[in-house]
Amino acid sequence: GGFAVVVVAAGSGTRLGHGIPKALVPLDGRPLLEHALRGVAEAGIADRVLVTVPAGDVDLSALARAHGALPVTGGASRAASVRAALAVLGRTGPGCTAVLVHDAARCLTPPAVFRSVARRVRSGARAVVPVLPVADTMRRVDEAGRSLGTVDRTVLRAVQTPQGFDLALLRAVDRAAAEAGTDPETVTDDASLVETHAPGVVVQTVPGHEHAFKITRPLDLVLAEAVLRGRAP
Ligand code: CTP
Ligand code: MG
Repeated sequence: GGFAVVVVAAGSGTRLGHGIPKALVPLDGRPLLEHALRGVAEAGIADRVLVTVPAGDVDLSALARAHGALPVTGGASRAASVRAALAVLGRTGPGCTAVLVHDAARCLTPPAVFRSVARRVRSGARAVVPVLPVADTMRRVDEAGRSLGTVDRTVLRAVQTPQGFDLALLRAVDRAAAEAGTDPETVTDDASLVETHAPGVVVQTVPGHEHAFKITRPLDLVLAEAVLRGRAP
């Protein structure tokens, strides 16, 4: 079976602060979602592409369609948006057995990262996340802000997207989370659902990429502009 790619783009972009959905914010004159969908297309691994969009937004839906993707109305949280996409994926059409879930906000993710996650899923891994070493010293603190000591950062990794899954597994853990009454606001990535609701399944890692950083705050947009300037046209 093939790969479905779910690009989650239904967020509001509060921290970026542009007053429009983040996926519509221009980067080098084109919306973030367009950059993200170009990366997906270049990777050449998707049999179908779904894009979650904010309820009522027509611009992102049109943009998704223009790139051959199916727009899906997202939910109030990222996890709710992924759930909405899984529901549509189940209702429409046959045949995907694996899924990649990707943040539109990681719009400069190199195609090679999509391919290496997909390759790992194809070779039998049921859950795969791209990761990078952390650069800063990490410290645990208590509620009062007192240091509880430095954490050994050699065992820590920062988690990126696309995250790849056996589709039946992602469906099962999403359903389990819903049944357990998990607050979707507390689910920051998809692989954590596997760890909580399918504890026997190992989440595998592959190397992520510096360019797969998430555009979250204004400084990230400055970095993204600089990355694009440094790329061959
Ligand atoms: N996302 C989504 N549906 C939501 C919330 C987020 O599809 N209800 C998507 C965003 O569009 C983004 C990705 O999940 O591509 C990661 O979320 P984040 O970076 O937090 O984006 P926003 O939620 O838009 O930003 P903010 O939290 O600052 O409002
Ligand atoms: Mg958010």
